[in-house]
Amino acid sequence: MSNASASALDPQAQAMLGRLNLKPGHAAVVGLQWGDEGKGKVVDLLTAGFDVVARYNGGANAGHTVCVGDQTYALHLIPSGILYPDKLNVLGNGVVVDPEQVVKEINALRGQGLKLDDNFLISDRAHVVMPYHKLQDTLQEAAVVKGKGGDANAIGTTGRGIGPCYADKALRSTAIRVADLMDDAHLRDLLTAVLAVKNATLAGLAAYAERDFTPIDLDATLAWLKPLAAVLRPHVTDSARLLHREIAAGKRILFEGANATLLDIDHGTYPFVTSSNCSSLGVHTGTGVAGHHVPNVIGIVKAYQTRVGGGPMPTELHDATGERIREVGREYGTTTGRPRRCGWLDLVALKYTATVSGATGLAIMLLDVLAGLDELKVCTAYRLDGKVSDEFPADARDLERVEPVYEVLSGFAADVTEHNDYASLPAEAHGYLKFIEDFIGVPVVMVSVGPKRSQSIFR
Ligand code: IMP
Repeated sequence: MSNASASALDPQAQAMLGRLNLKPGHAAVVGLQWGDEGKGKVVDLLTAGFDVVARYNGGANAGHTVCVGDQTYALHLIPSGILYPDKLNVLGNGVVVDPEQVVKEINALRGQGLKLDDNFLISDRAHVVMPYHKLQDTLQEAAVVKGKGGDANAIGTTGRGIGPCYADKALRSTAIRVADLMDDAHLRDLLTAVLAVKNATLAGLAAYAERDFTPIDLDATLAWLKPLAAVLRPHVTDSARLLHREIAAGKRILFEGANATLLDIDHGTYPFVTSSNCSSLGVHTGTGVAGHHVPNVIGIVKAYQTRVGGGPMPTELHDATGERIREVGREYGTTTGRPRRCGWLDLVALKYTATVSGATGLAIMLLDVLAGLDELKVCTAYRLDGKVSDEFPADARDLERVEPVYEVLSGFAADVTEHNDYASLPAEAHGYLKFIEDFIGVPVVMVSVGPKRSQSIFR
């Protein structure tokens, strides 16, 4: 499929965009749960009204699948704006870049007929995920499981090296940035020093975790990196300067978040989180664009709750309803294939994340998955040690112990996948959406009833 046909629905998407009531200026799309809410689809739709799509955080631990016509595009790092031929796509300084994964995506997307040259840029300040970061992810998790005597406390990392790469960013002396890949002699010197430390640390970790470890070889690593760096070279730029040039030229930027607010390193369910600021707060540090530029924050919300990996999830279902949601919603990880934990929508958590991320509108995704359930429960408070509260606890150990307090709403029987206007949705679906909107105090601006661009209802 060519880019021209990929963007064939632009006029329709454009008309829908007009109904979003966005304020002048830029916008961010951010997940308000534990990820996999369907951000990729919303970014893809909104892109029609923007000139630039910029990612600000995370790495290849995130995954979007975007369906356009009969084509499916699997994206982990490259922004989904790439499906439009005339948009600029940027990986900001806050992203951690796995060079092998980016090159794989570049090749796959080109193979699907997409333009991928000066419309894709990577920050020279972004940090590089190296193969030893992935090894470190696995060894660290194994060591922690051993140290804590069981896997109950495992974070359930995707193993993509994200945490170790951000840890090196904070440590500084063992970090490698994209700019470092552009200078062969400098890279050899830097990697020589980095590998000396890495080999010592990883050997110790492996010994403790009782795993085999072969020291990482400098020449083999450089030989692996060189051709990848050559592919990336034409795409590397000072992305913050570029974005400010675009802003000055009156262009509109859509900031695309990876992962989601409950996985935010500062505001999520720590320590069961990822290693970046995936709430909308990360936009500013992760791209160099200040807060006043971004008056629109579209919060993406799955119509129910899911989580993949470890950590508390108060509304998790361990019954036939949970199983049904998983099967109908195809709730298996796009990055790891792991089955996702499924449960009822948690409005206590959602109110918290909508506040932290400053959501100005909500997009409710996968509403179709709930069709056929007699009743729909939503969690409106937590009971902890006999006290009922609608406040989201800061401590994951408290969140682990809370008992959800549910409001029971009527379900809707009808298949809604063919609906394309809000008014035609079943009365019970309206009731469900209105309850969410009233509880959170943020308007529902969009509802998704299937994976295709056309299965989107803008109010
Ligand atoms: P890591 O960032 O790969 O180390 O993963 C840390 C935690 O965040 C694990 O529980 C992952 O399953 C979860 N996680 C990271 N990225 C995503 C995502 O995009 N969707 C859902 N869960 C994620």
